[in-house]
Amino acid sequence: MIRSVVRGIGSALPRRIMKNADFEGMVETSDEWIAQRTGIRQRHIAADDETTASLGEAAARAALDNAGLTPDDIDLIVLATSTPNNTFPATAVEIQNRLGMRHGFAFDMQAVCSGFVYAVTTADLYIKGGLARRVLVIGSETFSRILDWTDRSTCVLFGDGAGALVLEAEESAGTIADRGVLAASLRSDGTHKDKLYVDGGPSTTGTVGHLKMEGREVFKHAVGMITDVIEDVFAQTGVSADTLDWFVPHQANKRIIDASAKKLGIAEEKAVVTVHLHGNTSAASVPLALSAAVADGRIKKGDLVMLEAMGGGFTWGAVLVRW
Ligand code: ACO
Repeated sequence: MIRSVVRGIGSALPRRIMKNADFEGMVETSDEWIAQRTGIRQRHIAADDETTASLGEAAARAALDNAGLTPDDIDLIVLATSTPNNTFPATAVEIQNRLGMRHGFAFDMQAVCSGFVYAVTTADLYIKGGLARRVLVIGSETFSRILDWTDRSTCVLFGDGAGALVLEAEESAGTIADRGVLAASLRSDGTHKDKLYVDGGPSTTGTVGHLKMEGREVFKHAVGMITDVIEDVFAQTGVSADTLDWFVPHQANKRIIDASAKKLGIAEEKAVVTVHLHGNTSAASVPLALSAAVADGRIKKGDLVMLEAMGGGFTWGAVLVRW
């Protein structure tokens, strides 16, 4: 059978770093509160000339370099983002243009923080369906542009950045020993839509709006939802917490990561944590964490890696990949 194998990976972060202490004087908060409640120490904030498209392009170029490929080799770009450059056209098309691609097709996906997990799953289906042979899957966000910088309960939590994967079709035996995307479980439940949302949009207010979140409510649901989809992937594949090599969760809050790993029986040292470095970058957070663990040599060819995310909607999902 055809599998979607990871051929390359890359990331990009805005130049400017904002430390927790930089919020003191802006809103009533402290480095200690932010670090203790979330694990976040710093985040990157886009300058005026840095956008979701420019960060996505940089991450895509890094992934192509890592794969030893050029834009000519790519058939499809799937961009996961909730902070597109414009309402339309899709920012994926802008990235396609920036890469000089005049062939293939590109579109955006919107599943907030679960966007990258949804996008990997979608790209896998396009590959298996024969519509694309090589896909650039990008998560890119500039959440700093939709934050209310006077609301301490949200503005300290998010950051900007991008990460990308190149997935490539490969004929495989069809067993759990194959490399590539092995299984996925996706969910959403719109009854929770008011717990984490942006209070603007083209069809309602005609404005971009600001992020609103009932943090305690999100926290309450997060661990149960995350563990449900991972247990589903375990059941589909026969993989267990013990046989898994790496757990690459959405980087929203260190306490959620720790509690999810503990509930699943995944050893602490298998969890890849980068939330201290870039805060919650929504659809970029999983590929940023993946990039870090590949770059420092932790994730190696043949390793079993569980990706997981949960976000606004609510949406949530998990994907098992053999690197
Ligand atoms: N600095 C200091 N105090 C603060 C701050 C701050 N930045 N923010 C809130 N507080 C205060 C609150 O006002 C509250 O004060 P009160 O008790 O006087 O009312 C107190 O701190 C405790 O607030 P809680 O909200 O109960 O704090 P909690 O321990 O739940 O931590 C947090 C808040 C970090 C937001 C947590 O709830 C969380 O991480 N939630 C999940 C967020 C998440 O995972 N999102 C993922 C999806 S994101 C996406 O899809 C875009």
